[in-house]
This record gives sequence, structure tokens and C-alpha cells, in this order.
Amino acid sequence: MSVIVLERHQPGREASWAAGGMIAYSEAGPHPQFRELARVSAEMYPEFVHRLQDESGVNVDFRSEGKIHFLEEGKAVPEGGTRLSEAELRQLEPQVEFSGEALLLQESTVDPRALMEALVKGALHLGVEIDSGADVAGLELDGNRVSGAITTKTRYTGQQVVICAGAWSSSLFDLRIRPVKGHMLEVIPQRPLRHVIHGNGVYIVPRSDGRHVIGSTIEDAGFDKRVNPDVIQRLHQAAAMLVPNLGEGLIHQSWTGLRPCSADKLPVLGATSLEGLFAATGHYRDGIMLAPITARVLAGTMSGEVPSFDITAFLPNRFAN
Ligand code: GLY
Repeated sequence: MSVIVLERHQPGREASWAAGGMIAYSEAGPHPQFRELARVSAEMYPEFVHRLQDESGVNVDFRSEGKIHFLEEGKAVPEGGTRLSEAELRQLEPQVEFSGEALLLQESTVDPRALMEALVKGALHLGVEIDSGADVAGLELDGNRVSGAITTKTRYTGQQVVICAGAWSSSLFDLRIRPVKGHMLEVIPQRPLRHVIHGNGVYIVPRSDGRHVIGSTIEDAGFDKRVNPDVIQRLHQAAAMLVPNLGEGLIHQSWTGLRPCSADKLPVLGATSLEGLFAATGHYRDGIMLAPITARVLAGTMSGEVPSFDITAFLPNRFAN
């Protein structure tokens, strides 16, 4: 297919840029189709990263050191979690304060900003065109069929159009997507962690260059992306209760992102009620993890293939009525 990406600002600078980058399929929750989607996507990741790095020449910092997860009271042990004794925890990650039941999960992480850089380079290399700098203002229709997209500058014709506008997706078609704000910060501690640490209402994601990303909040604030320094301080303190050394690390950067959240919090993937119009949005807290399976599902659906597993829970028309 001949593909053009219409991007308002710079590609990958919204929720993808703000993300922590955890491939956290064990936290997928009880929904069976979502669990399957997450599991398949996480399994695709090593090959996805390998191909992307090869195509783009960008290292996306794919790490598979695992995650130490402190179980909240009353919560079930996530799939694949192994309980750690205090001695085992101390051996794995000596800086972490033991606070309740600790589990080890074999999960990976990626640096989402590097991932986006690699995706843009890789896509351009494969012949994808990216036009940025103008808002997509609407869809061009020919009866009940989409025939293109109109930006504030020009119009594009296309036999198939995919809405992948994240938190802004509903401005183009009623997909019941709203923004859910999250605050994040980055510190560079003197002694780095090896594992992702999750507990006390925060997660800490170490990168190989020494940066540690700490997140996040879940806020209903519309499209307001302002950073509240008090919220950043609270996240930093919560992380320092788990890893005291992080409290001494200076805050290097702080930011917010707007997660695209659908009415039932599940992704919105596949064909819409308008012929030729597809959606790939609503990934909420799991957009980075779900990138490879989203690409596979959309490419398959748009080529007329029957998906190899059940995606009915994610179809855009589930919100009709
Ligand atoms: N996936 C991490 C977050 O939404 O905060």
C-alpha cells in the first residue's frame, strides 16, 4: 500500500512521547480478549524491536531485566509473578526498601522516545510519507464511503483512512475517546536500578543511560497538559519511599501526557461503520505495548484478512446505540 501519515505537530510527540515504555502484559486485567491482545503483542516485541533497529539504525533501549512489583493488599498475584523473600529482593535490587509482598515479573521495557524516532526513520525508509504541520480538520466523504482527509492546509485522497489521533480521535469520528492525563518525571540517581519497580502508587522505569522515569497519575483534566509541580513532588516522594536513593536524584525533566481512553477503557481497533474508515486508538495506558499487534490487526483488516484471533471486543461499532 502507499501510505501517508498526517500529523499536526511532530510525529510521536504526544502520549507515545510521554509514556513509560513498560511492556506490562501481566497487568492486563481480567478481560480475556484484552489479555490475549496484550500477550501476543508482548511476544511480538523482540522481533519488532529487532526489525525496527535494523531498519532505522536507532537503538530503542529494549531491556528485559524484569519488574519488581509490590502487591497491593487484597490484589491477586499477576500472571507469571514469582514471590520474593526479603533476602531475595535485597540480592536482586539492594536499594529497594522492602514494603509488603514483592513479586518478580519477567517483563521488558523500551524507551518510547527512541522507539518513535526509530518508527519514523524506519517508516520513511520503507517509503511512508509523513506530512506534518497541519491539523486534520475532517474526513472527505463520497456517500457512505470515506474518500480522503482534509487538513487546515490541503486535502488528501485515499481509499482507506485510519484514525490514529490518540486522545483527539473523537474530533474526527464518534469513537467515544477522551483524554486521561498523567504526570511523569525523570531523575538521574547516583546508583541506577536494574529492574522496573512498581508499588506505593508509582512505577520507576530505569533506562540504560542512567535516566529513571517515574509515573504516574490518572487525571480527568480535559486537554490541559500543564505540569503541576506539587504533583511531581508527590510522585518523586512516593518513588523515594520505595528507593530512597531516588529522593536524592535531581529532577531532570517533568511532563504530562494525554492517554486516549475509550468508554470501556479497551482499545478501538478495526473497521468503522463508514466504508473505508478504520480506527487504531483508545490504547489508554498500553499504547507502547500494543503497537506491534495494532499494526498487525489493522494491516490485516485493511487487506481483507480474517484476524487470527477474536477482536470483536475492540471493534469501533460496539459503542453504537
Ligand atoms: N502505562 C503507564 C501509564 O499509563 O501510566
